[in-house]
Amino acid sequence: MQTITHLAELRPATRALQTTGKLALVPTMGALHDGHLKLVREARNAAAHVAVSIFVNPRQFGANEDLDAYPRQLQRDATLLEDEGVALLWAPSPDEVYPTGYATNVSVAGISEGLCGSDRPGHFDGVATVVCKLFNQVRPDMAFFGEKDWQQLVVIRRMAEDLDLTEPHVDSIHGVPIVREPDGLAMSSRNAYLSPENRNAAAALPREMREAIRRVAEGQAASSATRDLRSRLINAGFDSVDYAEIRNGADLAPANNAAAVNRLFVAARIGGTRLIDNMPII
Ligand code: PAJ
Repeated sequence: MQTITHLAELRPATRALQTTGKLALVPTMGALHDGHLKLVREARNAAAHVAVSIFVNPRQFGANEDLDAYPRQLQRDATLLEDEGVALLWAPSPDEVYPTGYATNVSVAGISEGLCGSDRPGHFDGVATVVCKLFNQVRPDMAFFGEKDWQQLVVIRRMAEDLDLTEPHVDSIHGVPIVREPDGLAMSSRNAYLSPENRNAAAALPREMREAIRRVAEGQAASSATRDLRSRLINAGFDSVDYAEIRNGADLAPANNAAAVNRLFVAARIGGTRLIDNMPII
């Protein structure tokens, strides 16, 4: 595996790989867990070569968020990726990505605004900007993102189509289902922040989400099921619930009863850590 930290060396390396087959990109912020590695494995199945980026993107963190505390463990991550058969690790510094004078922002209107966009103003502009840059830097044939961050996936698909970042009519942005811990909690680099007690209580998030979905399937109105879900999460030990909403998964529009693509989206806080999850309404 080649580890590259400067843009000038990246282009020749990706171009060389692409002479012998397709190149898939898996963008990450590192502190890799089995959720990230699932993306890498799916990418390996679909393409001859896999490039993984590790970059803790300052532009997607709010002023009071965990940019400084975010776990950084490049050596460990590099070993994991090497073992997965990754061809190229792109690990630029913040100055390489945003040099002095950097002034451009990519903003995807509408879908960036509700759900996590309400609680984290500017977050999806930061994500869209860095992913646009990563696509232009690596120029992959396809890219892999997790359904864990469903809204992010929808924002990136929209951006890639709007800015002609991918081949027209080719679905080259792949979504990978959420990888969960044995108790159902979605894997996340931020789970490491949880105390043992809060880690146990956090399993209530997927459990109560499944319960709410069961109740909706039995006929309870969505608004009342999500209201109940909020109070059940507080009773289970969560400090607050940023949102609990059922939306159309394809475009994040308010849920339409006729749509078979509705999903339940939740963000909730426990012991200072914000956890998100989403599940299909079946
Ligand atoms: P990060 O949180 O490191 O996640 C990198 C990728 O792994 C994302 O596509 C995310 O959805 C996916 N992922 C994380 N946990 C997962 C899980 N439990 N199951 C499946 N996939 C999972 O998301 C980001 O980084 C950044 O916003 C990024 C896209 C890299 C832009 O900076």
